Order: sequence, then structure tokens, then C-alpha cells
Amino acid sequence: MRLAVNIDHFATLRQARRTDEPEPVLAALLAEQAGACGIVTHLRGDRRHIQDRDLRLLRAVLKTKLNLEMAATAEMKAIALEVKPDVVSLVPERPEELTTQGGLDVTARRRELGPFIKALGKAGIRVSIFIDPSSVQIKTAGELGVDLIEINTGLYADLKPGPARDKALAGVRAAAALSRKLGLEVHAGHGLDYRNVAPIVAVPEIEELSIGFSIVARSAIVGVQAAVREMRALIEVR
Ligand code: PXP
Repeated sequence: MRLAVNIDHFATLRQARRTDEPEPVLAALLAEQAGACGIVTHLRGDRRHIQDRDLRLLRAVLKTKLNLEMAATAEMKAIALEVKPDVVSLVPERPEELTTQGGLDVTARRRELGPFIKALGKAGIRVSIFIDPSSVQIKTAGELGVDLIEINTGLYADLKPGPARDKALAGVRAAAALSRKLGLEVHAGHGLDYRNVAPIVAVPEIEELSIGFSIVARSAIVGVQAAVREMRALIEVR
């Protein structure tokens, strides 16, 4: 299982003072050197953390792969087609949310997403959709022709160990199995940390995890490379 590191919150810290440090691009390079398989970043419409210049610099310097999370808007499509990340992950976006809330509703937005995904694919960009562990959503995503999906682990991660969390985990497991059956590459993420990641690592169909906040938070204490290596030790057990 691979670890992709989301670096957005290094930029959150920088934007808190509208200054030039910490440099998220430097954090990304350190994460790569510590064994991250790729770097994930979300360019939001409101530019609350990552800025356009960060994205362009990341594209220029990364040696692994750049995964751009973005809303399915005309503005973001134009940026993606110009910057050409290796992967675009389509996510829902609401201006008032603290972080991404829930997966993209692909069944409700099926008609607009079809041409959007096609345009990115034609430009050689792999397309992922961040999706709730729902069989209807996953089947629709498969029909839309995405290359991979990222299962939202947020519901699982928000719960304390116990029957409700076990049920959420069973949902992730079933979603991963169905996705693989449909021929999709399966990733997962959201809310994963050093304490709750192990049961997700045990889901055999999941190939890659996207983890941000907990790694950035630990980086402030132990440094970026130690934080990435500690997480790799937990997830590269298979
Ligand atoms: N996956 C997606 C689609 C996300 O939007 C985010 C948060 O930006 C993550 C994974 C990472 O979540 P966290 O920061 O909670 O690890």
C-alpha cells in the first residue's frame, strides 16, 4: 500500500500570516524524499491555502506524481488542462466548510461530469472521484469512465472505536471490493491518522491512501520526514 501526502495545511499555516513560510513546495519535496509515492493538493476556489503559484511550482519540481484535488468547475478545468497534473481528483467543494464534507454526488451530477472527465482524460490526465462508500455512487463512477476512485473514509474516521465505527469500516470494505470488481483502481482517504489507519490498511483492495492533516500536524512536532516515515511504517505493512 502506498502513501500519498496532502500538503495543503502547510499552506494553511503560511496563509495564517499571509507570509512566505512554511514553503509547501519544500514540504512536498521532503515528503517525497521520505518515501511518499505522490503529493496531493487541493486548489480551492477561495484559495484559502494552496495558491496557483504553489501548484505550478509543484508541477515543475515533483519527481513522483502530482494529484490535484479540485471542484468540477470551468475555472479548475482550465487550470488542470494547462498545468497537467498526473491525476485530477474531483471533489465537492462548499465555501463554508472547514474541509471536504462527503464524497461527490456523481449520480446527481452525472450529466455534467461525463464531458468533464472525458476532457481531462483526452489531455492524458488520470481522473479520480472522491466518493462515499455507496454502491450506487460507485457504479455510476464506473460508468462515467474514471480511472480510479478514492473512497471517503471520513465517516469511519470521525467515529470512536465501537459498533458504529465497525459498521462504517464494513461499508468501506464493501465499497473497495465493488470498485475492484468494476475494474477501478481503489484509493482511500480523509480523516486518517496515526491511530485509526490500521483497519483501513487491512482492506486488501485499497492500493493508496491520501493523508494530509495528521501528517502536517505531526510534522510541526517531529519534522516532515519523520512524520512521513512514521506513517509509511504503519501503512506499508502490506
Ligand atoms: N482526500 C480528499 C479527497 C480530501 O479532500 C482530503 C482533504 O483535503 C484528504 C483526502 C485528506 O484528508 P486529511 O487531511 O483529513 O488527511
